[in-house]
Amino acid sequence: MERETKKFRIVVLLSGRGSNFRAIFQHLEQLNSPVEIVRVISDRAQAEGFQFAKQKNLPTSYIPRSPKDQSAEDFQQKLQNAVLEVEPDLIVLAGFMRILSNDFIRTFAGKIVNIHPSLLPSFVGLEPQAQAIRAGVKISGCTVHFVNEELDAGPIIAQAAVRVLPSDTVNELSDRILREEHKIYPRVVAGLASGEIWLEGNTVCFKETIRPSEDSLCSI
Ligand code: GRF
Repeated sequence: MERETKKFRIVVLLSGRGSNFRAIFQHLEQLNSPVEIVRVISDRAQAEGFQFAKQKNLPTSYIPRSPKDQSAEDFQQKLQNAVLEVEPDLIVLAGFMRILSNDFIRTFAGKIVNIHPSLLPSFVGLEPQAQAIRAGVKISGCTVHFVNEELDAGPIIAQAAVRVLPSDTVNELSDRILREEHKIYPRVVAGLASGEIWLEGNTVCFKETIRPSEDSLCSI
């Protein structure tokens, strides 16, 4: 009997549009990689990304933001349990609008990744695209990083840069950055799943098979 190879287990956390999640899903499908999305969790039932997961018949869990009888600790505990239950190899934050508790981050240390729409360490926190325009920078972009207990500050895995034009509105810059997000995040998730990217201590390591893309200023 053929031994079934263990699939790489991914949990996705999202709160909104879910365009990064869709890009990751489609990339993994095209690669036909031995990956299983074992749960998609949302704190908003109507989130587009959550609806997409349902259409694709992926296992989903809705954990409401703030029902009257639920404290922030309850929310974090439910979230943690929902993730623990499915024993993931990787937790992908794809526009999840809740801050994770330190306990959650410690429990899944080295297994949580996030994408942030700036070239970290610049412009951490909320509305980084607006921060970039206000600061007058000429180049911005996006960063995929491991999550640690400090906000938007874990080990950097990949970045892609875009121009900031003098006429840019926040929406225009956000769209330009988002197009790059859709390239690097799927590549990073696929690389982590295939073992071509890994974390040793605080250092992100890459096999030589991971090369910078030629179509834009991407590190991957
Ligand atoms: C993206 O801009 C991402 O960088 C940030 O949240 C947004 C999520 O967008 N973390 P989407 O839900 O993936 O479309």
